Amino acid sequence: MAMRRLRHLCVSMAALLLGLTWYLSGGRGVPGLATTWRPSLSPPPPPEAGSSNSRRRLEIKPGFQVVIPRRLRGVLPRDWPRKDRETWLNAVYYPWAVGRVNDACRLLGIRFLTNVTSSQTRALVSFPGSGNTWVRATLEAVGGVFTGSVYQDGFLAASGLLGEMLRFDSGLTVLQKTHGDATKSPALNEFSRHHVREFGCRGVLLFRHPAAAIVAHRHLDEGGHLGHAPLAAFNGTEWRQYVAGKIAVWRDLYSHWLRECEPSGLRIAVYERFRADLGGAVRRLLADLGVPVDENRIQCLLKYGSGSVERRKLYQGVELFDEDQREQMARVVDTVNKLLLAKKNFSLPYLR
Ligand SMILES: *[C@@H]1O[C@H](CO)[C@@H](O)[C@H](O)[C@H]1NC(C)=O
Ligand SMILES: *[C@@H]1O[C@H](CO)[C@@H](O)[C@H](O)[C@H]1NC(C)=O
Ligand SMILES: *[C@@H]1O[C@H](CO)[C@@H](O)[C@H](O)[C@H]1NC(C)=O
Repeated sequence: MAMRRLRHLCVSMAALLLGLTWYLSGGRGVPGLATTWRPSLSPPPPPEAGSSNSRRRLEIKPGFQVVIPRRLRGVLPRDWPRKDRETWLNAVYYPWAVGRVNDACRLLGIRFLTNVTSSQTRALVSFPGSGNTWVRATLEAVGGVFTGSVYQDGFLAASGLLGEMLRFDSGLTVLQKTHGDATKSPALNEFSRHHVREFGCRGVLLFRHPAAAIVAHRHLDEGGHLGHAPLAAFNGTEWRQYVAGKIAVWRDLYSHWLRECEPSGLRIAVYERFRADLGGAVRRLLADLGVPVDENRIQCLLKYGSGSVERRKLYQGVELFDEDQREQMARVVDTVNKLLLAKKNFSLPYLR
């Protein structure tokens, strides 16, 4: 009892201290645990008194939960107040800055693009639960450039995906996450229906086998990004309907892009390939996107991972689908494979 009270007291004190630090550091617009941080080996830039360059660059390391303020969301960065542009568009996130990490990795940061036009938006399209966030974090770490999103998910933004809060068409991010019409978000319904057109048929189609993706989708629906659905949620009538519905959604999302678009704007990525050969898969995708590949960053990724938030694996070895559902999934994989072969001379590595 006494221990618990002591712990409460410590937590409150820590929160107070953090808040005070934030306030004293003039953390305008930086909510929560925000503060700035400078990697120990980088020399501070020479101060230029009176000029705007005298502001410290916003440097963020994992765990600091720095998020672009709500008032700026939905506004194109060119219309932001100058001070916000200077602060946020120069922000750097250091994915390998905590823990026992060698200095070669510690100092590698992720930045916003500053010289692209909005015509270069490109969707990272996936059925929910297909590792979209994980692939984004991987690409950011190796490419050194933030990705974006059509969702503005505060949880993901606070975990280091700073581009999450920008408009997808800001022109400052290299890929923008979308699940298209595979999710029903009231705010995005109209956009989602037309997302292929909104992106001008430029997209990376990210695939994961529907069985694994549907299970992850169920966890996401029931438990959020890191939580889990109870085992009972994978049983009974409601689960059967869920699976039947999601299999059709999986087919339609990818078919939509493959039917509507010329092959030249489409790139293909397979989650399972990233898991099997991370370095190779990242190199290939970045090359496809025209982002230079830094071999040092690949080595850091292979050694330390991207630091992406991940759901713990659960119910492994438990069969969550029956034979009929497996057959339905094999059929939609066949359907999409035919389109992939015709459009991209590509075949998903999923055996029947
Ligand atoms: C953007 O800047 C980088 C580095 O300065 C340069 O290599 C690249 O070609 C530029 N891209 C465009 C589209 O201007
Ligand atoms: C689903 O329910 C049946 C019957 O109650 C049971 O035999 C089976 O193990 C359950 N499966 C899961 C995945 O919970
Ligand atoms: C399609 O891919 C196969 C190997 O994956 C290759 O042998 C073949 O030449 C390709 N066909 C075309 C038209 O590019």
